[in-house]
Amino acid sequence: MNCVGHIHHGLWKHPRDNSVDYRKPEYWIELGKLLEKGLFDAVFLADIVGVYDVLGDGIDVTAREAVQLPVNDPGYVVPLMAQATKHIGFGVTANLTYEHPYLFARRFATLDHLTNGRIGWNIVTGYLDSAARGVGLKQQIDHDDRYDRGDDFMDAFYKLLEGSWEDDAVVNDRERGIYADPAKIHRVSHDGPFYRIDNVYNLTEPSPQRTPVLYQAGASKRGNQFAGRHAECVFTGGPDRPTLARIVSTIRGQAVEAGRGRDDVKILSGLTVVVDTNEKAAREKFEEYRAYSSPEGALAHMVSGTGVDLDRFGLDEEITDETLEALYPGRLKRVGEARAGSFAAGTTRRKLLEARRFGSQQAPLVGTPSQVADEIERIVAETDLDGFNLTRTVAPESYRDFIELVIPELQERGLYKTAYEEGTLREKLFGAGRARLPDNHHAASFRTWK
Ligand SMILES: Cc1cc2nc3c(=O)[nH]c(=O)nc-3n(C[C@H](O)[C@H](O)[C@H](O)COP(=O)(O)O)c2cc1C
Repeated sequence: MNCVGHIHHGLWKHPRDNSVDYRKPEYWIELGKLLEKGLFDAVFLADIVGVYDVLGDGIDVTAREAVQLPVNDPGYVVPLMAQATKHIGFGVTANLTYEHPYLFARRFATLDHLTNGRIGWNIVTGYLDSAARGVGLKQQIDHDDRYDRGDDFMDAFYKLLEGSWEDDAVVNDRERGIYADPAKIHRVSHDGPFYRIDNVYNLTEPSPQRTPVLYQAGASKRGNQFAGRHAECVFTGGPDRPTLARIVSTIRGQAVEAGRGRDDVKILSGLTVVVDTNEKAAREKFEEYRAYSSPEGALAHMVSGTGVDLDRFGLDEEITDETLEALYPGRLKRVGEARAGSFAAGTTRRKLLEARRFGSQQAPLVGTPSQVADEIERIVAETDLDGFNLTRTVAPESYRDFIELVIPELQERGLYKTAYEEGTLREKLFGAGRARLPDNHHAASFRTWK
């Protein structure tokens, strides 16, 4: 993420961490090169619109611990990394709720051109009231309505990128003086429940992938349904493996309901790893990292999504559905069941802080390369996940450790590639010849010129 503190809050204070250099071009160039050396499929860039200002009704913890504040735009670091690399892809998070498809389509098509077809878009719909207030709304749009808007946004987006310019519209013929053939560029209109596009030509010529590889990150039922229709990669997570297995199966089922194959969606979960050559060294490294972590920062992050100011509760006071409903009427509709359900029976502020002792809720895998690889194998076998999104702890050390220690172990077991394939990001993920969205994807219905 283009910020100091991403998930494992507080670790920016570690003497070997370089996250505070996020403002410098070299930070991104070196990161791109390092991850490409590790043969990563993509750099996934999270993002947030809005600030975590719910805990204590302000930003005291958020600002002190740099909890995703300040946060720079993720899109602009992509060309820096693309120029220094050849293969690695880029999954850029963008919240569609505050965008318009007409201009947004141009931004992502431009990135697809400048990366030679290595761009992905992580579609999110947002979860912060502060973002809504920033663009003049009183509060955020209700949870399921945000996804309804999302469906409409996507249709308009597909029309522009898939339906306007034919594949051979650009002829680039100097002798005849024709750059593009006007007969092969079509106007598109969209008159949806939320977005209107009136009889326009798309601004960009077809890029290698046309539509970026579509990622989605969401955890609710409505979110999974949205993913089934649109997503090619889903970034998800769960408190335990059985839950994760259920989520994976639900998402694949939703893809089938949308007329696609179960394997047309690659499903990834977050993964935190602290690894060293022997177990003792790995444990010591973990303890050393943890000395810098900020459970309070993690809490400020978490509660903003739930809309609940925990400072209104005593440290050991139980947080119940009844008290929450009384304090925040209509909360469930706003934040959705995935976030509203963050407070299980018996939850207290103390317990939440305890669960976030490593500066996040995510339990890390700590151990030797072979122990970590064993666990990764087990998780995949038990959940049917396709892959992982590796979370940074101390950067760039945590990437480097994974690349130098875990990847060779995975390669030896035949579980990780030993070289990149040629082609766009979509081809690297789904195979040669699949630079564009396949015909069984909803977007294909908008290629009306075909
Ligand atoms: C694993 C995961 C990662 C997410 N990453 C982001 C992110 O980087 N930026 C963002 O605005 N929302 C992010 N979200 C939030 C969702 O995209 C979504 O907008 C919000 O959670 C509401 O939908 P849901 O109830 O379906 O999860 C993430 C959600 C999950 C589950």
